[in-house]
Amino acid sequence: MTRRSVLKSVMTLGAAYAIPTIIPASVLGANAPSKRIVLAMIGTGNQGTNNLKGFLQLPDVYVRAVCDVNRASYGYKTADQYLGREPAQQIIDDFYSSMNLNASIRNCFACTDYREILARPDIDAVVITVPDHWHAVMAVAAARAGKDIYCEKPLALTISEGRRIVEAVRLHGVVLQTGSHERSNRQSRFACELVRNGCIGRLRRMIAIVGPNNKTAPARDWTPQPVPDGFEYDRWLGPAPYAPYHPDRCLYNFRFNLDYSGGQTTNYGAHSIDLAQWGNDTERTGPIEVEDLGGEFPSDGLFTAPTKIHFRALYANNVELICKTGPEDVQIRFEGDRGWVQTGYRGFSCWPENLQTAVFGPDDIRLGDSANHYRDFIDAVKSRGIPAAPAEIGHRSATVCHLGNIAMLLKCKLRWDPDRERFDNDDQANRLLSKPYRAPWRI
Ligand SMILES: NC(=O)c1ccc[n+]([C@@H]2O[C@H](COP(=O)([O-])OP(=O)(O)OC[C@H]3O[C@@H](n4cnc5c(N)ncnc54)[C@H](O)[C@@H]3O)[C@@H](O)[C@H]2O)c1
Repeated sequence: MTRRSVLKSVMTLGAAYAIPTIIPASVLGANAPSKRIVLAMIGTGNQGTNNLKGFLQLPDVYVRAVCDVNRASYGYKTADQYLGREPAQQIIDDFYSSMNLNASIRNCFACTDYREILARPDIDAVVITVPDHWHAVMAVAAARAGKDIYCEKPLALTISEGRRIVEAVRLHGVVLQTGSHERSNRQSRFACELVRNGCIGRLRRMIAIVGPNNKTAPARDWTPQPVPDGFEYDRWLGPAPYAPYHPDRCLYNFRFNLDYSGGQTTNYGAHSIDLAQWGNDTERTGPIEVEDLGGEFPSDGLFTAPTKIHFRALYANNVELICKTGPEDVQIRFEGDRGWVQTGYRGFSCWPENLQTAVFGPDDIRLGDSANHYRDFIDAVKSRGIPAAPAEIGHRSATVCHLGNIAMLLKCKLRWDPDRERFDNDDQANRLLSKPYRAPWRI
């Protein structure tokens, strides 16, 4: 697709919206924001605000626009977080207020419809930090509009959506970084490098830990609540099935409901299982078998995501992965026939202990050098290179999590073909590879 045809499709997409004039560099001077990568944030809640603050730190980035269906409210991850579209806009305006810019350029654009963002020719890249049920619709539309994409993990709500994102990114030649930021963590990378270089002998087993649900489910006899002012609930639901409003369904809490998320399996698994895939050198493929080991789901109520996660996956190289709910201290433990290594939020440990100080030689396998996931994305945007967590890798890691959920839901063992991305001879399981979209939303 040529730049002209991309622009043409953007213009068609944006026909219903006012498209702003592109800001000429001459208006802005030597350190012009127009010489930087211009970003828009789509979703400015709990993690969107973290992403915003991270990108603002980069001197060659200019955050120009925000989009969120929530104007502003308390009630995100913690009760005292006041987040949403207007607080994010304020953070940006405050940040740039010290720069000697014309107010019409300096002031951050804000909207509730992401299509307005995609229609703007002055936006180079979008940061998608909305609940998982929106990732694929937005990411594919962004790729079609020629925007580079930082998309939060898990890459998609279903396996088939993830593949659609990978295809769209390839077709339109855009850069996509999945928000699996352990790929830019030196400690995590070192653990994977030890494994990949045979320092613990032959890899046998990987144990990926996912944190427990950190919010209490609402009472089983919950009743619908009035939608708060400033919250566009129907657009929040988007492609998900219609359901009456309740605060425990939406901001932050979406991750406990399978209509919007894969629960903690995909929430934490998109980090810990991503490391398993990396250490096992299977990051562009997947396991061949997945088996429920006693996962548990709520029997009724508003929360539907698993309350206890426990499954096993087997790879073609005979390495097994156990994923289970546990304390968040350890994310991943690799066990080989000559040692082990584990890493997580409480640090790194290994046996033999002297592996801690291992130094790799020029012929050893190294897994990159990214130390800042945002920086790495912007560098890839500029060089048109491959970021630390590109679409295929993000999709494959999320796939393992989805496979675990499917095996736990069906309470069985399933054969998986990672090339065809289908279960062998199991129609019921294959039906869970995708979910229907509520009209008018579609990819
Ligand atoms: N990389 C990480 O470590 C990390 C950490 C937390 C969350 N996340 C990911 O970030 C995503 C968001 O999670 P969160 O905890 O920030 O959720 P959140 O509910 O706090 O924030 C999501 C925001 O998206 C907005 N939104 C919803 N639908 C929208 C739409 N159609 N258009 C515009 N805005 C919309 C909501 O109003 C909300 O403000 C999830 O995919 C989650 O897995 C990643």
